[in-house]
Amino acid sequence: MSESNVSRALFDEVMVPTYAPAKMIPVKGAGSRVWDQEGREYIDFAGGIAVNCLGHCHPAMVDAVKAQADKLWHLSNVFTNEPALRLAKQLTEATFADKVFFANSGAEANEAALKLVRRYAVENFGEEKDQIISFKQGFHGRTFFTVTVGGQTTYSDGFGPKPGAIEHSPYNDLAALEALFSDRTCAVMMEPLQGEGGIISADPEFAKGVRALCDKFNALLVFDEVQTGVGRTGELYAYMGLGVTPDVLTTAKALGGGFPIAAMLTTDKLAPSLKVGTHGSTYGGNPMACAVGEAVLSLVNTPEVLAGVKQREQWFRDALNQINEKHQVFSEIRGQGLLVGAALNEKYAGRARDFLMAAVEEGTMMLVAGPNVLRFTPSLIIPEADVKEGLARFERAVAKIVTA
Ligand SMILES: Cc1ncc(COP(=O)(O)O)c(C=O)c1O
Repeated sequence: MSESNVSRALFDEVMVPTYAPAKMIPVKGAGSRVWDQEGREYIDFAGGIAVNCLGHCHPAMVDAVKAQADKLWHLSNVFTNEPALRLAKQLTEATFADKVFFANSGAEANEAALKLVRRYAVENFGEEKDQIISFKQGFHGRTFFTVTVGGQTTYSDGFGPKPGAIEHSPYNDLAALEALFSDRTCAVMMEPLQGEGGIISADPEFAKGVRALCDKFNALLVFDEVQTGVGRTGELYAYMGLGVTPDVLTTAKALGGGFPIAAMLTTDKLAPSLKVGTHGSTYGGNPMACAVGEAVLSLVNTPEVLAGVKQREQWFRDALNQINEKHQVFSEIRGQGLLVGAALNEKYAGRARDFLMAAVEEGTMMLVAGPNVLRFTPSLIIPEADVKEGLARFERAVAKIVTA
């Protein structure tokens, strides 16, 4: 099939209809710019849903792929490999964790985390310690366990009987959480900043309270940092800014900067519960993915890049506030670092997707977080000129909607 035969219509012909992609098909990217089949250029404020943390085709990532591609692509976990061991060492040195389990996606890292906390509780306290508490509007992935732990029944309903002993509490409401807690509580899983749920930061006092409740009831705290991790909030991991250390942390998305990889991080105390044969993954710890992860982590985990995230957050906040002064479309600009949410005011409620589509028409790629929130998750090293140009285009999209 020649390239010219690949059109958006082919998607509807050959793909399972789980997605509704835009009309244009991107074919090339460099830094924070992307080009479609017609040669039209876009500024990328989406970064593949908080994945492309170093933009498109960063030379260090390209070099890492090329170097590893000439050495070793895959082995299986019957053998270990050098990139996996080096990346695990990097992750343990940079965080609270002592031990790493590699997976391929955020959902899989969370699946591993949920199995670990259940297994640890069964082994140390007995079968009846099985309750997992998570939060309404939370998102943890699409496997049946993770989607059930997630707090949106629209994603988990309609597939038959769900995994049990999972309860949901309102986010940032410590009293409601405390009411659900008992000796039966095995673990709490939470995002330190809810991404898909609308860009809602955890109140630091709430997060500290969750930790204290977990400690009181011998329950484990799992932070899902799939979206917030690897520099996104301006800290390497968001827990570092909250001052609350989890027992288990999951990381994916930006860890590979565009190459599929995920990891579950935990402690020496918990890790033995996933002994040989209890869990596994064919591709988890794949040398190609881990070689890219090493390159990404080395670049992101520097004071310059992390401080640059906070600087860029300010550029976004200032520009979005200015747009709002002119056009009155937002009720709030929120989020942390380069996980920025612009909540639509009542007049534009439910219309986030219209803004997204209008922005694409003007040459800016961005995201939504639910029907009422526009989400910006660009590269952590996006140049100032691209921020300005992308936001100028976005403002034209906003102007079109408000004057329509
Ligand atoms: C917080 C969080 N957890 C888990 C996931 C699932 O990750 P994946 O799509 O890689 O399975 C996502 C994806 O958006 C996420 O934002």
